Parts: sequence; C-alpha cells; structure tokens
Amino acid sequence: KKTENQILVIFGASGDLTARKLVPSLFNLFISGHLPENFVVLGASRSDMTDTAFRKKVVTESTYLEKKLEKLDKEKIEAFSNKFFYEDLGGSYDTDYTRLRKRVEDLKNKYNTSGNIIYYLSTPPTLYETIAQRLADAGMNTQNNGWKRLIVEKPFGYSLETAKQLNKGLQQFFKEHQIYRIDHYLGKETVQNLLVTRFANSIFEPLWNRNYIHHVEITNAESVGVEKRGGYYDKSGALRDMFQNHLLQIVSLVVMEPPISDAPEDIRNEKVKAIKSIRVMKSEEELYENTIRAQYVASTIDGDKVKGYREEEGVDANSTTETFAAVKFFVDNWRWKDVPFYVRTAKRMPTKVTEVVIHFKTPHHQIFKDSGMENRDNKLIIRIQPDEGILIKFGVKVPGQGFKVERANLDFYYSSLAETYVMEAYERLILDAMQGDATLYARADEVEAAWEFVDPILDYWEKGKDVRMYGYAAGVWGPENSHDLIDGIGEWRNPGP
Ligand code: BG6
Repeated sequence: KKTENQILVIFGASGDLTARKLVPSLFNLFISGHLPENFVVLGASRSDMTDTAFRKKVVTESTYLEKKLEKLDKEKIEAFSNKFFYEDLGGSYDTDYTRLRKRVEDLKNKYNTSGNIIYYLSTPPTLYETIAQRLADAGMNTQNNGWKRLIVEKPFGYSLETAKQLNKGLQQFFKEHQIYRIDHYLGKETVQNLLVTRFANSIFEPLWNRNYIHHVEITNAESVGVEKRGGYYDKSGALRDMFQNHLLQIVSLVVMEPPISDAPEDIRNEKVKAIKSIRVMKSEEELYENTIRAQYVASTIDGDKVKGYREEEGVDANSTTETFAAVKFFVDNWRWKDVPFYVRTAKRMPTKVTEVVIHFKTPHHQIFKDSGMENRDNKLIIRIQPDEGILIKFGVKVPGQGFKVERANLDFYYSSLAETYVMEAYERLILDAMQGDATLYARADEVEAAWEFVDPILDYWEKGKDVRMYGYAAGVWGPENSHDLIDGIGEWRNPGP
C-alpha cells in the first residue's frame, strides 16, 4: 500500500511513550523504507525546547537507538533525526493553537508534506477532548486540504459512562472514521493470526463451536510488578489496565463470526457483535461466583526480596486495587451457548506469557478405555507471546500390543520463519494509521460494548457484599481460590517459562 506524504504531530512528545515506543517504531519504518518520501514529525508539549534539544531527547538519547547506533552509519541516524521538530504550547494544552498551526504550515511548505496530518495524543486522557477542541478552534481538523487523523492511547475512559463521554467529546470535533484508538495487542502478529487460523483454514472452523469445544481459557501473565507506574496502576487495576481492552480484544477474535471480507468495517462489525454477545453479569450472586480479584504480597523470588503491591511506590497502603483478575463468563449466541470462558490476567506471576487455549470435548464414545489419555486431551493452544506459535495436542498410539494412547504435539513456532521480519506492534499500527487502515484499531461502539461487560464487575468489586480481596505471593500463579473458578472443569494451564 502507498503511504502518502504527511506530518505526524505528537502531543505529549516529551513523555516516555515517544522515546520508548514511537521513535523506535518510526525508526524501523524509516530503515525499512516505509516512511513516505516527504515526512516530518512535530513534537508538541508544554515545556520549552529547541528542535535540537528535542532531537537529542527523543532520538539520540533513545535507549533503543543508542543500542543500534554503533552498528548504523551516522548519516542514517542524522537523516532520521532531521525529520523531527518541536513546538512548545506555552505551558498548557488548553490554549490557542494558532502558533502551532503556523508551524505546521511552515513545515508543510518547506518539506512538501501536503496537508495530511496525524495527531497522536500521548498525553493524559483527561486532555484528549481539550486538545481535539483546540485543534478544531484553530481549524486544524478540516479535511479540505488533506486528511486529518487522530490517534488516541488507552485508557479510553474509566467506566462505561466516561468512555461514552470521551467518545462523544472527540466526535464533536473529529468524525469516527478519523479517530484511531490504539490497542497494541491488535498490533501483535499472533493476535492477527487468530483471524487467519480460523478463517483461512478448513480444518479448525468446523470444530469452532459448542458442539466440539468444551471451554476456552485465556491467560495473560506478567512476571513484573507495577514497576514505576504505581500511581497510575493504583487507580486502574488489572481489569481496567488489561482486561477491558487487550483481553476482550482477544476474546472478540476468538468468538466472532466469519466477516464477509477482510475490509476494516466488516471485521470490526463482527468484533462488536462478538463483544455484545458476552453475557453481562447482573446479580451479586453471579458476580460473586464468576469473578476473583487478588493482590500480590511480598515474597522472595530467586533469593531476591520482592515488595508486595501495597508497599510499591505510588500505591496506597490500604489499596483495594487488584493486580490479579479472573473472570468466568458465557457468550450468548448460537455458536457459543453454554461454553464457559475463563480469562485471567495478573502481574507478578512466575513468567510472562499470553495464550489462548481451546479445550476440545472428549470423543462421545470412548473405545480405548484405560488408554492413558485423560479427558479432553485435544487442545489447540495459541501462544501469543513469547515463543509465538500454535500448538496442537492430540493422542497417538504407543507402538506395541493393545491400544495405549500417548499425548503428542504438532507445534508451529514463528521463530521457524527466520527470514520473515516481524514488525513491532506499534510499528505496524502506526504504519496502518499512516495508510488510513483502521482494521486493527478499536471503534467507539467496540470500546463501549467492552465497558458494558466490565462495568458491573468493577461496581461489584467496589461496593458489593462479600467481595474478597485475596492475596498471592509474588511469583506464583495467583491466589489458591482462583482454582475454585475453574473447578469441576479442570485446572488452569500454567505454561512453563
Ligand atoms: C499495557 C499495560 O497496556 O500492556 C501494562 O498498561 C502491561 O500494565 C502491558 O504491562 C503489557 O503489554 P505486553 O505487550 O508486554 O504484553
């Protein structure tokens, strides 16, 4: 696809995300020849900085580029960093953008970038609407001399109500098709491959329903704690930070019906339908039965003392924010009726891993009794990270007399495609936005549908009766009680490191 000439304006450019994610992604796009011929980046923030200082801050001092610097010729780095410019907003985002507009126009004329502009909002979300409004006030949202797109980072709201407000607020100044809500999990190859696994093969989809699938399990584990983001995390928690967005996005791709084509709106329409068919839990009994939250407590991992969540910097000493969340739910539609889904996400688990496990039913009639195969030994495991791949577990006959059955694996790992360059999630998503492809971005109704499901859980956890906050030692697979959720069905699959 062609990438038209354009300007990328980054609000909150002096922040961490620019140096950590955006600059490295842009750099890779530059090296691989994906950036348009005429292209500049204009950083905008409150603080005062020269272009040179900005380049130094985000480009030259980017740890990512620093690592690469030695291997790369200086000219390349310089050519790349020469694309970066900076304009301060005079101490506040809520200000007149006339000067910013003038700067954008000067750059456009000087570098022949045309009037196409992406505004990337990498500021606290409380500023999103203000920035959109100020852009509109300055006439910077009009599309008559080139397209304008707005990329916003998560969180998209804090609850259903605030998400709706945010969507409405932004839509006053930008049309929905101009708004790109980034969810970096959709930029992961293995997440996109869920679509290909299901809809480009004829061996999986016929089984992909309640007749053959017993239950679905999704685990997202991180070994790190809240790191330096205690202040943010304590107001968010695992359900808002991971589940409402990344995990429900994965769920939507597992659950969705085949789209009529791979066009962005065809795919997004099916995803919204999928999220809307998740049964919203309403009664306290349901919420009590089907949700578990917990916090990690101090422990020793490999001989190192590790702090408990409540001791982390920026975290309230009496915090009731969860660092572990597990939810069981059903999807009320033709395909999934009565198939339970178990989804959990947590910090400070034994390892970092994200995977989807499709547990197939046991064959209706067991011929090979005492065969050594347990119930439901057919599994399809979609390993999202690390060791990205697809694993199939099935039974084979042990050579010799009788019919002893043993488990075998048919495993595919992405690493075996050594020749293929796999783009980083951000790299892929930024390039898509540059090309106007919104397939891998979340639409307003999708985000709201996800909140519809999550809101009652958060509400219950905050105010409900009998809600418990369990503890788990940092470095284990969550609280003991999380097994209760999946009891009677089996056990959580805890993949090794
Ligand atoms: C972010 C969350 O969206 O995703 C973080 O805010 C989390 O808390 C991160 O660590 C995980 O992303 P990944 O790509 O490392 O799985």
